[in-house]
Amino acid sequence: MLDIINKTKIDYRPKLHFTPKQNWINDPNGLVYFEDEWHLFFQYNPFGNEWGHMHWGHAVSKDLLNWEELPIAIHEDEEYMIFSGSCVIDWNNSSGLGDGKNPPMIAIYTGSAQNWEKQVQCLAISHDKGRTFTKYANNPVLDIGKKDFRDPKVFWHEDTKKWIMIMANSTENTISIYSSNNLIAWELESNFGPAGLDGKLWECPDLFALKVEETNEIKWVLKVDIFEREFEKYSMAQVFIGDFDGKNFECEKDENGEFKWQRADYGHDFYASMSWSDVPKNDGRRIWLGWMNSHHYCKNTPTIPWRGSMTLPRVISLKNVGNSYHIVQTPIQEIQILDKSAVALNTYKNIEKNAHEFFIEVKKLKKEDAIFALNFEEGEKIIFGYEAQNNSLFIDRSNSGALSERVEFGAKQSAKRILDCDNLKIHFIIDTCSIELFFDDGLIVFSEVFYVKSPKFKIECLSPIMAKITACALGVHE
Ligand code: FRU
Repeated sequence: MLDIINKTKIDYRPKLHFTPKQNWINDPNGLVYFEDEWHLFFQYNPFGNEWGHMHWGHAVSKDLLNWEELPIAIHEDEEYMIFSGSCVIDWNNSSGLGDGKNPPMIAIYTGSAQNWEKQVQCLAISHDKGRTFTKYANNPVLDIGKKDFRDPKVFWHEDTKKWIMIMANSTENTISIYSSNNLIAWELESNFGPAGLDGKLWECPDLFALKVEETNEIKWVLKVDIFEREFEKYSMAQVFIGDFDGKNFECEKDENGEFKWQRADYGHDFYASMSWSDVPKNDGRRIWLGWMNSHHYCKNTPTIPWRGSMTLPRVISLKNVGNSYHIVQTPIQEIQILDKSAVALNTYKNIEKNAHEFFIEVKKLKKEDAIFALNFEEGEKIIFGYEAQNNSLFIDRSNSGALSERVEFGAKQSAKRILDCDNLKIHFIIDTCSIELFFDDGLIVFSEVFYVKSPKFKIECLSPIMAKITACALGVHE
């Protein structure tokens, strides 16, 4: 009883991360920029804070940080729940679904049968900047009679002048690539997979081109999430890098002829990420965010009356390190620094009002550990850093408060360090109940939620090294 009272008292609502006013959310959907607004649609249950009755919720922002939640954009109906999918702007009215005045915003989503018998792909059209959508009269536009066939991501492929849709055959661990001239008639071009991690469900693919940093080379990034059902007890996003010609995705292979893959994020809480479509050319960034949660404990996160948040939007780029391509992620620069000296590093401070950003730099690290602890006021801890023995970066939230005794939540997460360098840089953002850790300028990232009794903490360096630590308060200028 006491426990319940305590939980309801704690306000875990983050300051910079998107959360709904109330109820359940999961995957980001339909990310698109249109007429000066960043749109964020999301999997939403208007009837409670558990998964079910999936609708598309909606929020818009001018700066990717301040979100205005709007009324539900697409409602479930008697036949189908509205599962994940994407939005495009049909600039040339290729679909013929425009109103003759403005280009329509078209959502391509999975209709998941209420009786669970099949999943089909459907369209919905908006003529009012995503505020309201009308379902296409001849839905579904793609029905191959499959049960687990979902999460269409659609984009315009300039070279072939076609729309491309990639989607997951979840239980088969494959991606199907379709093309279309009009968003209505779709033709199968190819399949990719199984590859990388398999044996579980594949969900929420994304595919986009990036220029490799400091070269003129263009490579394609294919991201797909894996819902680990029976084996390791967490879900994660994996990334393949290769070439795409409008028909086939050719993945880079290693010296044994195996497809190369990497994790997008090594923490527990980065899933179903999606990148924004139609980012203005003069901006040019590829920006994505993910659902900051895991299928394995999302039902139990102690936040009331909302459940689920998004990560911060991040810029993704590609780097060639040690003769391999790697994705690099950094938080969007829109995060505004309010006060550079806002946090005293060795004392508990009132950090409840803002989110905070920290930079740690360790120079001349010679085969030694660089381990740090966040010691929270009520005794909880989060430990992270570099372990020399196995050359790995890690985060450990096994003593971080609510849920941390559960193995699927508390298990230490680690990643082999990619960079071979004796300077270590750690950049992280803490926002009430989450930490996003960017090691080595974003080559290795961990996203984790945590539920401590008080968000006040001290930072401690647990290793006998010299570390420079700086901190800033983040937020929006009042
Ligand atoms: C991923 C997912 C998707 C599906 C949606 C349903 O988290 O399982 O595959 O479309 O959530 O809410």
